[in-house]
Amino acid sequence: MTITNEEKQSLIDLANEARRRAYVPYSNYPVGAALRTKTGRIFTGVNVENAAYPQTMCAERVAIFKAVSEGETEFEIIAVVTNNGGSPCGGCRQVMAEFALDMVVLFGNGKGELVKETSVNELLPGAFVPKHLVTEI
Ligand code: THU
Repeated sequence: MTITNEEKQSLIDLANEARRRAYVPYSNYPVGAALRTKTGRIFTGVNVENAAYPQTMCAERVAIFKAVSEGETEFEIIAVVTNNGGSPCGGCRQVMAEFALDMVVLFGNGKGELVKETSVNELLPGAFVPKHLVTEI
């Protein structure tokens, strides 16, 4: 399905707005994500930090886990917005790869501008995916 520029901008806007709800007392680096499923539902996510730093969860994974927990596992596009158009971390790329190698990934900045458009395949070439998990030798 084709995704129009208006739809892309609307996902960036949703991700940017979601950043207001980020819980970031430690990094002060709010991240917002807006994920659209193939069924057209949209799930947002924000980073949620913790005083025990490693327990922090990234915005992209919050959005994906919200969707999966609501029964959605087929994803079309995700917008990720940070102050500076930063790129998704390796852990989030791996979680994206589990569900959608062909998912479009947009990076946006704090002004709501599209900084980069890519795909999970491009962000994580050679990803370890479910078909690799063979237990017999
Ligand atoms: N963060 C995300 O939410 N997504 C990423 O892909 C990169 C990093 C968050 C984690 C932490 O709360 C803050 O950004 C600084 O690392």
